[in-house]
Amino acid sequence: MPACTLAINIAVFCSGNGSNFQALVDNVNNGKINANIALMVCDNPNAYALQRAQQVEIKSLLLERKHFKSRDDHETTIIEHLEKENIGLICLAGYLRLLGPKLVQHYKNKILNIHPSLLPAFKGLNAIRQALDARVKITGVTLHFVDEKMDHGAIVLQEPVKIDDNDTEETLAERIHQVEHQLYPEVVKRFVEDTLKLEGIQ
Ligand code: GRF
Repeated sequence: MPACTLAINIAVFCSGNGSNFQALVDNVNNGKINANIALMVCDNPNAYALQRAQQVEIKSLLLERKHFKSRDDHETTIIEHLEKENIGLICLAGYLRLLGPKLVQHYKNKILNIHPSLLPAFKGLNAIRQALDARVKITGVTLHFVDEKMDHGAIVLQEPVKIDDNDTEETLAERIHQVEHQLYPEVVKRFVEDTLKLEGIQ
C-alpha cells in the first residue's frame, strides 16, 4: 500500500487586499501546492481579503488588536485557533502587524512573509514608494522566514524587478504583484515538499 501523507494545513494572515492569499488559494486549487488552506486570519474588518475568503469558502478569523489588552493576549487567542486547525505553516501576506515573541517562538521556522523589495533594502511600509524615491533602477520581491524584527529573518527567495524611467507607484506595484503571485506559491510548494534550503537557520 502506498504511504499516505496528510496535506499540511496553512493559515494565511492578511490586513488588506489579499491578492497573495488569492494566489495561494488558486495554486492549491489547481494542484500545484499539495496543502490545505485551513484559515485566513485578519486584523482589519475592512480588508477585502475577508470577502475573498468568503468567495472561496475558506474559514476566516477576524481578530482586531484593539479588542485585546496586549499583543500577548491577541497572539494567545490567535494561537488557540491555529492549534484547533492543526496549522503547520503560517503565510503572512500583507499582514500589517509585527509578530511578537509568543507567535514567532510557537511557530519557529514555520512563518513566511512576502515583502515588495529586495530586503534588506526598503523595509517597512510603502516599500515600492521608497524604492522610487531612492531612484534605484532595480527593486523586487523577497520571501523570508519571520523573526521578531520587522522584515527580517532568513531570506528564502528573491526576484528582481526592473524600474523603468516612466514608472509610477501604480505601474511598478502592478509588476511587483505579478512577480509576488508567482513567487509565493513557489516557495510554499517548496516548503510543503520540504525542499527549501534551510542552511544557517537556527
Ligand atoms: C504585498 O505587496 C506584499 O509584498 C506586502 O503587502 C502586499 C500585500 O498585497 N507584504 P495583497 O494584500 O496580497 O494584495
